[in-house]
Amino acid sequence: MSETKVETVKIQDMRSASKDAAAILTQHERDDIDSWLTRYPEDKSQSALLAALRAVMHEDHYVSREKMDAVAAYLGLPNIAVYEVASFYSMFELDKKSAGRHSISVCTNVSCMLNGSDEIVSHIESKLGVKMGETTSDGKFFFKIEEECLAACCGAPMMQVDHVYYEGLTLERVDEILDGLE
Ligand code: FES
Repeated sequence: MSETKVETVKIQDMRSASKDAAAILTQHERDDIDSWLTRYPEDKSQSALLAALRAVMHEDHYVSREKMDAVAAYLGLPNIAVYEVASFYSMFELDKKSAGRHSISVCTNVSCMLNGSDEIVSHIESKLGVKMGETTSDGKFFFKIEEECLAACCGAPMMQVDHVYYEGLTLERVDEILDGLE
């Protein structure tokens, strides 16, 4: 086989492997990613990476290595570019053991601590019967390990549930939010 033909076969193999990797993305994930891709120039698909990982996170409640590879293939990026981003941001869980249907992050940094975050953490731990970093036995809640400042200091104490911000928390408000989740 000529060198040109060998190169062509290699490129075809790579394209087919890339297509296979992306095949595990759900239709919902694809639709979500596509809606973000329309906001950027065609050659800037990397701009949709955070949104793509968030779509996977909301679907699977964690981001597996296979899904990272699928996102890379779908966006036409090297796998390492996805691993770097997914492992850098604390909002992405990479361990299946951390996969709860709802992810709770209570900020325990200075402003929140001075406004009662310790009491909120204790309250959630006793309400759910788990410690920070654990998932409830029914898989409903993952209580994330201590979270650093989530940039809502003026609304302290605060928490994120499934990436939604809740500020000015009281114990009653925490109960109301968690009890309202399916
Ligand atoms: S200290 Fe809690 S959001 Fe900044």
